[in-house]
Amino acid sequence: MNPPEQLPKHIAIILDGNGRWAQSRNLPRSEGHRQGGETLKKILDVMLEINIPYVSLYTFSTENWKRPKQEILTLWKLMKEFFSQYLNEAVQKGIRIKVSGDISKLPKENQNIINESISKTKKNKKLIVNFCINYGSHKEILYAVNQILITKLNMNKKNYNIKITEKDIERHLYTYPLPSVDLLIRPGGEHRISNFLLWQSAYAEIYFTNVLWPDFSREDLIKALHWFAQRERRYGGLKH
Ligand code: IPE
Ligand code: IPE
Ligand code: MG
Repeated sequence: MNPPEQLPKHIAIILDGNGRWAQSRNLPRSEGHRQGGETLKKILDVMLEINIPYVSLYTFSTENWKRPKQEILTLWKLMKEFFSQYLNEAVQKGIRIKVSGDISKLPKENQNIINESISKTKKNKKLIVNFCINYGSHKEILYAVNQILITKLNMNKKNYNIKITEKDIERHLYTYPLPSVDLLIRPGGEHRISNFLLWQSAYAEIYFTNVLWPDFSREDLIKALHWFAQRERRYGGLKH
């Protein structure tokens, strides 16, 4: 199947269903996370091929700290391996790596490879891949508001014009300067957003599928893109 003509600029994906994928095969949940990384590489190749400029990926939420310590440690280990293996490929393929979220809580080695990935790909322009790690929209918006307050209080001793605008918030979101999300895809069968890109997805088209992330294929992406192309985006206005 070919992609449709009208494509989203910014696609966001909630990478969900890894654990169930593994459990249904009598494998440890970690095997699902590892396979999820392999699927991600293939899907990023499709994004490059069809010229999608921005993709955001939910890889670890601020709520995922509630999981057993062993699973969290395995996730960091797999994530470190993923970045170490993928960095050269990203450099060569024109992928720019960006991260949204507070990575200061991650193991030092993870922070190092993530920072190296960001700096070694910073000149790339073909596809911006925004990894949302230790990310949650509530924390992000609070962070933005606090940053704005500090700036405004410093700049404006008399406290006039202290009002916070939408532009202010947008400029201080972790995802800045990425545009708002056009298409949000959630594999794994759940019909919820789980604290992901709430501000940025205000007018996103939301596509749910039961396919578990490790099984998500090129065809599944193209299907979501055809569904997106048929949506009429009105932004609160009227049909035309
Ligand atoms: C998503 O897969 C990956 C992370 C949250 C890190 P899950 O681990 O949530 O997989 P399921 O939902 O249990 O199948
Ligand atoms: C959302 O999946 C977070 C990521 C995919 C990183 P979860 O599996 O954590 O979401 P819930 O708990 O089902 O809402
Ligand atoms: Mg899940």
